[in-house]
Amino acid sequence: MRTYLVTGGAGFIGSNYIHYMFRKYDNEIRIINVDALTYAGNLENLKDIENRDNYTFVKADITDKEAIAKIFAENDIDRVVHFAAESHVDRSIKNPEVFVKTNVLGTAVMLNCAKAAWELEDGSFKEGKKFLHVSTDEVYGSLPDDGKSYFYETTPYSPHSPYSASKASSDMLVKAYIDTYHFPANITNCSNNYGPYQFPEKLIPLIINNALQGKKLPVYGDGMNIRDWLYVDDHAKAIDMVQEKGRLGETYNIGGHNEKRNIEIINIILDTLLEMLPENDPRRANVSKDLITYVEDRKGHDRRYAIAPDKIKKEVGWEPETMFAEGIKKTIAWFFEHEDWMKNVTSGDYQKYYADMYQNK
Ligand SMILES: NC(=O)c1ccc[n+]([C@@H]2O[C@H](COP(=O)([O-])OP(=O)(O)OC[C@H]3O[C@@H](n4cnc5c(N)ncnc54)[C@H](O)[C@@H]3O)[C@@H](O)[C@H]2O)c1
Repeated sequence: MRTYLVTGGAGFIGSNYIHYMFRKYDNEIRIINVDALTYAGNLENLKDIENRDNYTFVKADITDKEAIAKIFAENDIDRVVHFAAESHVDRSIKNPEVFVKTNVLGTAVMLNCAKAAWELEDGSFKEGKKFLHVSTDEVYGSLPDDGKSYFYETTPYSPHSPYSASKASSDMLVKAYIDTYHFPANITNCSNNYGPYQFPEKLIPLIINNALQGKKLPVYGDGMNIRDWLYVDDHAKAIDMVQEKGRLGETYNIGGHNEKRNIEIINIILDTLLEMLPENDPRRANVSKDLITYVEDRKGHDRRYAIAPDKIKKEVGWEPETMFAEGIKKTIAWFFEHEDWMKNVTSGDYQKYYADMYQNK
């Protein structure tokens, strides 16, 4: 049975990936999820799978060498899928240091521990071992608002925020391991994700949550910035396909072909909420375009991101499947069905879950 070590599995994309993998492989794989449970880590995301025999949660920080080396020493890890990171651009502008620590040093620790566990005496690596580093399209900087230029795997790095600079540094470390040691790794650079379990500091869950409560909907600058939105399940599938079919040492860009301006996203969410809320639901009265409030632009705000996912399509056979109109309905439906999840996140109660559920483990 193949054993996966997933870092940051209690976060948004990591928890969706773990769900995806158990749906796809069921009892054919084992997953160890290592997460420090920062404000962004929520074990409630995984409560439906936490009792599986082939799933283990380890609370540890990826910058803690001893803790990570112990996981490798005690388990024959076949695959690492490295999501753990500080991930919010606004937080990185306020406090860059923790981004350098987790995203750069944490990645160095993960690489070093995997290398130590997998390397043979002659410097080659044990058969079948693979490390996948999950990164972002933000490392490439900003594109002109021309609708026709794209990020390719060959686009030079030009990060602008402390977040993207730290992710770019971590990518460079992975590339250095590939070039220096022929370390068996891939890098994926992905566009903006959306879907279930996303922490409501990010645009889409923030707008859904605020609109339902009649709270202001903050929009940076003129609202015309463009992002390329990817439904999180499509991302999980891409990661799995890259590990199965990608060429080791390669980088693959993952994008949704769903470019939208921020203000368009907000308008689509408001229209979809009104379409989906039953006539007698009192929250309908709260949902209004009058809530849209333009606020001072984010510092260094990149204008446009857009990915050309040509390489991953050609080499791996992956394409985005979920168009935005469908993905946003699924996402809103999920938030309707998981009101408690949102309440626990916004009240901070989710942070008690670990203490309540894992105290005797
Ligand atoms: N969300 C996106 O749109 C997007 C797009 C492209 C790439 N990415 C990348 O995907 C990955 C996951 O993003 P996300 O949106 O799920 O992030 P997230 O913030 O929702 O989750 C991050 C997880 O990492 C954990 N973590 C943070 N610091 C840690 C540490 N020092 N040790 C162990 N665990 C730690 C947190 O507890 C949390 O569970 C990140 O590497 C991010 O850069 C995200």
